Amino acid sequence: MKQMTALFEDIFCEEKLIKMIFGGKRKKSQECQKAAIRPVRISGQLVYQVEYTFEKKVTHENLNAEDAVKKSLDLITEDFKQINIFLEGEDIQVLASKPASPKVSRKGGTKKQGSLEHNQKKNYVIPDGQPVDFLIRLGVMDKDGRVFKKHYGKFRQINRYLEIVEDVFPYLPEEGPDGRPLKIIDFGCGKAYLTFAIYYYLKVLKQRNVEIIGLDLKTDVIDFCNKVAHDLKYHELKFLMGDIADYTSDHADMVVTLHACDTATDYALINAVSWNTKVILSVPCCQHELFSQIKSDVHQPMLKHGILKDRLTEYLTDGLRGLKLEACGYDVAMIEFTSLEHTARNIMIKAVKSDAAADALEAAENGADRRQQAAILRAAEAKASRAQRQYEELRDFYQVRPTIDQLMPNK
Ligand SMILES: C[S@@+](CC[C@H](N)C(=O)[O-])C[C@H]1O[C@@H](n2cnc3c(N)ncnc32)[C@H](O)[C@@H]1O
Repeated sequence: MKQMTALFEDIFCEEKLIKMIFGGKRKKSQECQKAAIRPVRISGQLVYQVEYTFEKKVTHENLNAEDAVKKSLDLITEDFKQINIFLEGEDIQVLASKPASPKVSRKGGTKKQGSLEHNQKKNYVIPDGQPVDFLIRLGVMDKDGRVFKKHYGKFRQINRYLEIVEDVFPYLPEEGPDGRPLKIIDFGCGKAYLTFAIYYYLKVLKQRNVEIIGLDLKTDVIDFCNKVAHDLKYHELKFLMGDIADYTSDHADMVVTLHACDTATDYALINAVSWNTKVILSVPCCQHELFSQIKSDVHQPMLKHGILKDRLTEYLTDGLRGLKLEACGYDVAMIEFTSLEHTARNIMIKAVKSDAAADALEAAENGADRRQQAAILRAAEAKASRAQRQYEELRDFYQVRPTIDQLMPNK
C-alpha cells in the first residue's frame, strides 16, 4: 500500500486533483455503486468532497487533505477495484483487483479544472463553451462552443448519457475478442447525436480502440450521418440502414438505444443478449405493444382511464424487460435518465452482464474454498431462475405476450 499512500498524498496534499472516480465494486452485495472525490471551495476553504452513489440516493461528505488520503486508501482496499484519476495535465488509472499489487498507468490529461466554488454550474462531460466538432456540425453549438438555447435539452441529454457511459466504463473490457476494437452499436440512432457523442467520448477523449455502428431505418438520415462522420474523420464510426430485428453480428461489447420506438427496443435487447453483450444502456419510448393486451379484472376500474392504462403499459413493458434481462444473467438497474424529458421517456434500463465464473475465480484468489465458489455459481443460477419465474407470473397476471418473451434464458 506504500505506492498508493504516496500517490494519494501527492494528489491531495499538492492540490492537483480535478476528480477521481472509484468503480468496480469488490462485493456484489455492496450498496455503494460508485464514489467520486473532487475539490470544492466552501466559504473560501478548500475541501475534498466525496460523493457516494447508491442505487436510489447520492450522499456526500467533506474531508480535509489528510482524511481524503485515508478515505481513498479505504475505498481502494475495501470497496472498489479501480480508480480513474484526473489531474491537471495527467490522467491516471489504478487497477487494483489485488490491493497489494495495484497497476498504475498514466497518460496526458483530458480534463481541465473548472471553478471550485460549491454549487457551481454542473460539470458536463462535454462542457458548454468548449467547441466540439460534431456538435458544431450537428447544429447544437456555434463555432465558439456556445450551445444554442433551443438545443440545450439535447446537449444536457447527451451529457447525461455520457455520464452513464462513464459509469459503466470499468465494466467494459480493454478490447474486443482477439484484440479487435470494442464494438458498440446504437440501435435506432436517428440523427445520431448520441452515436457521435459516444464516439467522441471514447475514441477522441479516452483514446479507446473502438468501432461504433449506428443503425436506423431511414436512408436519408444514414447518408447524412455517414457524410458527417467522413468529414470529421471519425473513421471508426459507421452508419448502416436496416431494421434492428434483422440485424446480424457476431458480437457487440455495448449496445445502446435512445428512444427506439416501441418493440424496436425489444429487438435491440434480444440482439444484445444473443451476443452476450457486456453492457446494455437502453432508454425506451412509445411502449404501446401491451396497451391492447393487458387484462386484469382487479385493475379494470383503474384501467378504464386511458392515461392510467398508458402509464401501466409503460411500467409493465419495462418491468418485464428488466426481469427478462435478469433471467439472462444481467444485473439490471432502472435509472432516471433526465428529468427534463416527459416521464414516459425518462427511464433508462442499465444492464451489465454478470460473470459468476469470474466472481468465483476471484473469490478463490482471495482464499475462498471450492464449496464457497460453488455457492457463488449456485446463487447466480438461482437469481436468474427466480427472475424468469417472476417474469412469467407478472406476464400471466396481466395476460400479455410481449415481444421480449422471445428472449430465452441461457440462449
Ligand atoms: C425517436 S427516434 C430517436 C433517434 C435517436 N436515437 C435520438 O434519440 O436522437 C427513433 C429512431 O429509431 C428508428 N427506428 C425505429 N424502429 C426501428 C427499427 N426497427 N430498426 C431501425 N431503426 C428503427 C427510427 O427511424 C428513428 O430514427
